[in-house]
Amino acid sequence: MPAVSSDERWLAHVLVNLVSNAVKFTPAGGRVTVRAIRRDAAVALEVEDTGIGIAAEDRGAIFEPFRQGERGDAKGYGGVGLGLALVARLTDLLGAEVGLESAVGKGSTFTVRVPLMWRGRSTTQLLRPARPPTSPSMAEQAEPPNR
Ligand SMILES: Nc1ncnc2c1ncn2[C@@H]1O[C@H](COP(=O)(O)OP(=O)(O)O)[C@@H](O)[C@H]1O
Ligand SMILES: [Mg+2]
Repeated sequence: MPAVSSDERWLAHVLVNLVSNAVKFTPAGGRVTVRAIRRDAAVALEVEDTGIGIAAEDRGAIFEPFRQGERGDAKGYGGVGLGLALVARLTDLLGAEVGLESAVGKGSTFTVRVPLMWRGRSTTQLLRPARPPTSPSMAEQAEPPNR
């Protein structure tokens, strides 16, 4: 494999989330396979499982925070639905792309395409301040007492 110019901690976090999902959603006796494949100016990291699979109508929503598979029994597997939201956010920061192929009852393959050369965000973009609280109750609490 060629070396990639990336962020080790973020990339490790992406893989940990994908591998832990693959293990969680694959019943005993199944198989989880992790591969690295050279692709032109990128390395593709694949996490493949022989688990429960993901319905086509769930494939967009599961990347949003706090969303779990609606049709499947994902809720019975625990978790809070943040892993893939984190994967989406971190891969965006890394300039990487996530792909998903799945068949219900057969398994899923998540692919992270990491460019060899760094194409992620600059540090200044990362340092944008977080949005202030918008809920009225929190805003009230933040104000000094009225005199
Ligand atoms: N490898 C997988 N196989 C089947 N379903 C998956 C897999 N990975 C993710 N999912 C689906 O996507 C949902 C969101 O995943 P995630 O954000 O990691 O949340 P959580 O693991 O807390 O449920 C899961 O609840 C599940 O429905
Ligand atoms: Mg998860």
